[in-house]
Amino acid sequence: MKPIIIVHGGAGKAYSHKTERKKGVKEAARKGYGILKNEGNAINAAVEAVKIMEDNPVFNAGLGSALGIDGEAEMDASVMTDDYIFGGVTCIKDVKNPILVAQKVMEETEHILLAGDGAVKFARKMGFKEFNPITEGRKKQLKKRSASSLYKNIDKIIEIYGGGTVGAVAIDKNGKLAAATSTGGLMYHLPGRVGDTPLIGAGTYASPYGAASATGYGEMIARFMVTKEIVECMKSEGFQHCAENFLEKIEERGCGCGVIAIRKDGVPLILKNTPVMIGAIGAFNNIKVFE
Ligand code: GLY
Repeated sequence: MKPIIIVHGGAGKAYSHKTERKKGVKEAARKGYGILKNEGNAINAAVEAVKIMEDNPVFNAGLGSALGIDGEAEMDASVMTDDYIFGGVTCIKDVKNPILVAQKVMEETEHILLAGDGAVKFARKMGFKEFNPITEGRKKQLKKRSASSLYKNIDKIIEIYGGGTVGAVAIDKNGKLAAATSTGGLMYHLPGRVGDTPLIGAGTYASPYGAASATGYGEMIARFMVTKEIVECMKSEGFQHCAENFLEKIEERGCGCGVIAIRKDGVPLILKNTPVMIGAIGAFNNIKVFE
């Protein structure tokens, strides 16, 4: 199997820092593709690609995560492999790379999802040091608006905060598939809010048929189980049509999102029903940015 990686840096109405984000997704895809080319496996490639974007404050994940109305950065992340093994963290604070903690949940525990203080305690036990992911830019953004009046106005929030969830899907030379997704969630959210990113079949899903990572309006992505549905589409030959239909239908119901996916035979799928989704694909010794 020829290895492939696809990464996304968020879908939405528009995004700021276009040049930096393009550079960021390219760097992430290059990192992940390098791992695959050096015989690395799909899960490590997807996780390392996501880590690169978590470390880049132009994205809404890890450093530079969106803030809740209380000024806290509660982050979500998850990983899944095609043998139905999943790991996630939700509402985790004070760590640099939630995606690495999610991978530890998958590999070191019998659980699928750790939340809040429990997730932080687990991270410390696994050796992750305390790290403040809150940037001055996010603090200013929070101060500028009356957050308490905004949190119910989802369209406005999405317009202001500009998306930036990050994700990756990969297939390695052995044909193994994996997906990874990480986010700071919605700006101005209520404390304790859980979006789609840490939920199986919502923000992240993988099965023997394919792997997918979603970005966009989390509450809606979770309601429609976007990645699970997309991977289900991959069971059929007309999977592209099936996936396009699905995205069209959920758009009518208010679910704006983008999805990256790879089918078990290495066929990539990049779809969105929002005006933009930035990302990059690494395949055949080439890294190509899409938007
Ligand atoms: N899709 C990211 C979120 O809504 O949390």
